[in-house]
Amino acid sequence: MYMRRLLPVFLSLPLTFAPLSAQDGGQLYTLYCSACHGADGNGATGGQFPPLAKSPWVQGNAERSIKIVLHGLHGPVEVKGKTYNLEMPPQGAALPDDQIAAILTHVRASWGNKSTPVSADQVKATRGATAARKEHWTAEELLKLHPLENAKPPVENLISYYYKGSFQSMPDFSQLKPDAVEEEPMGLVDYSSYAKTDGFAMMWEGKFYTPDGKHEFCLDSDDGARLLIDGQLVCEIKAIGPAGRLVKKSVALKKGMHQFRVEYFEFAGEEALSVGMKQQGSNGIKWFSKDKGSAQSKTWPEIMLTPSADRAVMYRNFIQGTSARGIGFGFSGEINMAYSADRLAPELLWTGKFIDAGHHWTDRGVGDEPPAGDDVTRISNKLAYAFTEEAVTAWPAGNPVAPSFRGYKLDAKGNPTFLVQIGNQRFFDSYAVVAGATPALVRTITPSGEATKPVSLLLLSEHDLQAPTAQSFQAGKVKVEVEGGAVRYVTGNAILDLKNSAITIRYTWQ
Ligand code: HEC
Repeated sequence: MYMRRLLPVFLSLPLTFAPLSAQDGGQLYTLYCSACHGADGNGATGGQFPPLAKSPWVQGNAERSIKIVLHGLHGPVEVKGKTYNLEMPPQGAALPDDQIAAILTHVRASWGNKSTPVSADQVKATRGATAARKEHWTAEELLKLHPLENAKPPVENLISYYYKGSFQSMPDFSQLKPDAVEEEPMGLVDYSSYAKTDGFAMMWEGKFYTPDGKHEFCLDSDDGARLLIDGQLVCEIKAIGPAGRLVKKSVALKKGMHQFRVEYFEFAGEEALSVGMKQQGSNGIKWFSKDKGSAQSKTWPEIMLTPSADRAVMYRNFIQGTSARGIGFGFSGEINMAYSADRLAPELLWTGKFIDAGHHWTDRGVGDEPPAGDDVTRISNKLAYAFTEEAVTAWPAGNPVAPSFRGYKLDAKGNPTFLVQIGNQRFFDSYAVVAGATPALVRTITPSGEATKPVSLLLLSEHDLQAPTAQSFQAGKVKVEVEGGAVRYVTGNAILDLKNSAITIRYTWQ
């Protein structure tokens, strides 16, 4: 990470200067802290690092910040409503007690901070008491020892409503009378005091703060749950079932307070309910619930794969919702695709972020990584090619000659062309994003070799198909348009008969 690269620069700096006296708190701050926390205390590199200006971590009880400076800090830490998940190197070995005291005294009296000075004796006492400590602190550990003064709860004015009953789907709460109503001063969605018996529903209402931005919300539950913000449904898990059905959704919100509402029902068995928000530009999740969803609470660093302006990025690993041989492509224009080499088809299309490779790249691939972006649309989960005469209706069972995957090539811009062989015919299936007001994923299927038998392509299967015409149809938010061929519809499948000339298929988002 870049902090590790910054560190040597910053450690070598003081050696070129004459030793500073403890009085120069401001200069010591410039030397030892400002590279990361910024000259103005607002966090260096445009807020990538946490601010010290008006940070509750540096106010009040000084022991908290003395410990951070002595031993460093790592893991998620929330500062002024934003979560960071980085690592601050320990400074205890480099800085004597009086210099730490001078720096913290300066920090606690600058940029709007108004806390009492720190003495060398205080630092000495803390250093002595924690002499055995070898590791960085975590925010969680420190908060237990030294809770923040005047910290705001995650959800303010939170009230919980409890309803007894055997619910197999989300009830209409307006028709029910709660069996218990309680204030939740911790500001956390927490069902645990009611979880001794199965069969209940709950609802929580309150308000929470966000800055301007497109923030990503996540929800996971056992059984069903819904998250509503400002009265709008954001995430929903409808059916009875275990946790691990994580739903994510990005929402653009204006700076300020927003209405928060979570609905939940528990039919039987285990219980789980986690609700969180990843603020735009933040790499950790701020939890609104006591459960910190197991599926989302990553122990690996985020390595978000992002295409560059002129080259697509590829990801070959397990992608949730695709077959085992899925290959992901993140194109510019925030268009992403997972192609299945087993089924010879683009299986998933989505917009926004591509994929977080941190999990597989650091843990050696346990489990499937879900697409990181929005509006994930399943296009197909069947084998995509068949000979026309052999009963398309019985697809793919009536497929006498199995089409096979012959590999792929990338062009200079990282755009893929897959080669599919069926009988003695070959098809080049290539994909590229065309920029514009509405960026489109353009797919071109070009035949090569002798066409002995007509071949059909399954363009969409098992999907809620809308507005079907010979030239286009709609699948969820994706509009599919065909040029150079005509779409047929057989039992809810969209089928395209391939020709001896190229066919173009455009995928756009509405
Ligand atoms: C190499 C970069 C770096 C340097 C140098 C550095 N810090 Fe930090 N600091 C961080 C990071 C990163 C975090 C957040 C760590 C995390 O995510 O767990 C942090 C967190 C903190 C926090 C708690 C969070 C907050 O924003 O209030 C305090 C207090 C703090 N640093 C004080 C200091 C002081 C004082 C110095 C100088 C003696 C200093 N730091 C030097 C990177 C640095």
